[in-house]
Amino acid sequence: MRSVVLGVSAGIAVYKACELLRLFTESGHDVRVVPTRDALRFVGEPTWAALSGNPVTTEVWDSVHEVPHVRIGQHADLVVVAPATADVLARAAHGLANDLLTNTLLTARCPVVFAPAMHTEMWEHPATRANVATLRERGALVIDPAVGRLTGADSGPGRLPDPAEIFEICRRVLAGRAADLAGRHVVISAGGTREAIDPVRFIGNRSSGLQGYALARTALARGAEVTLVSANVALPDPAGAKVVRVEAATELREAVLSAAGHADVVVMAAAVADFRPSRQSGTKIKKSAAEPDPIHLVKNPDVLAELGEIRREGRAPSPRVIVGFAAETDDVLANGRAKLERKGCDLLVVNQVGENLAFGTPDNAAVVLVAGGDPVEIPRGPKEDLADVVWDLVATRLA
Ligand code: CTP
Repeated sequence: MRSVVLGVSAGIAVYKACELLRLFTESGHDVRVVPTRDALRFVGEPTWAALSGNPVTTEVWDSVHEVPHVRIGQHADLVVVAPATADVLARAAHGLANDLLTNTLLTARCPVVFAPAMHTEMWEHPATRANVATLRERGALVIDPAVGRLTGADSGPGRLPDPAEIFEICRRVLAGRAADLAGRHVVISAGGTREAIDPVRFIGNRSSGLQGYALARTALARGAEVTLVSANVALPDPAGAKVVRVEAATELREAVLSAAGHADVVVMAAAVADFRPSRQSGTKIKKSAAEPDPIHLVKNPDVLAELGEIRREGRAPSPRVIVGFAAETDDVLANGRAKLERKGCDLLVVNQVGENLAFGTPDNAAVVLVAGGDPVEIPRGPKEDLADVVWDLVATRLA
């Protein structure tokens, strides 16, 4: 059983750490919670003790015969501090040891993950920036906070990322997975485009964006810089990703092509409409019209094919690896193979879609077709697992 120390410091996001604790215990980890004194003002000792099944102390003066200020850190396989306040980052960066948590941070020789949460001004203050830089230089993994609503009415960078996101990063660190995408810029398109008919109606598709967002979260956890071109997705922004919101295929094309020029990898996970209405009504079409006008469609640009073409012709700086997705209902492999060649991509993730398959579900199964290689089958499982296999194949091609 892996031993995890969950350090909790005094931010309003402490309540989310209860959820993180549950994710650890339910997946078989032995968790020792070490809150700071003030963190207990938000969530009390009995909650941590009951959820972890372990004693909870904040001071070095409790159970001194067990030398907790040294032992807890020495025996940990991972220390994660969530939420990490500006104060705890400062104390950790400067090597202070004035409570049990900071003592534990000094004695731990295992990987350390900080999930900061604070107001934007505090996160952006030069003192905090310097402390984060120091901790990162020493090898700690400091997760960028999410952007969104903070305590009160204001919003900006500073939110604690989703507990599931922090857990995913920790799981990966515990598994010893290297940050093999560090220094790489990846562009991912996700969701489904909407092609306007009039100001209120559109032609859309069933894509939820779950697979694209799983690709973004896993790439971030593996150290990549991520630009996420997001088409009509109702999911929280992955912490640390640059999110560019688009609606129609033509906007998606512009966003992807402009980011692709400085990217190592482009993954086209979005469901892009092949056609759009040839004209959009500037006003709402009324049902009083005796006979509705037929909607005439014109072809949209194929962004994936265009990326392949630009690279083949050397027209502009291009990503080293281009990944496409294909949704097929029949003749899955044959159609996929033809598409891989037609679109000039390196990898094509082929999903079989239909009722209850792929769209909107947390699970996915696929075959990845590899240019010049054998196909890789991915059994049904979480979309994160599929994303990891894609990144494994991408990392091999980049190496
Ligand atoms: N794609 C794209 N631009 C489009 C349509 C699709 O970039 N206008 C990308 C998708 O993001 C996906 C891949 O192409 O990565 C496959 O899309 P799919 O719709 O399955 O294939 P099509 O080429 O449209 O072929 P068909 O509809 O005939 O199956």
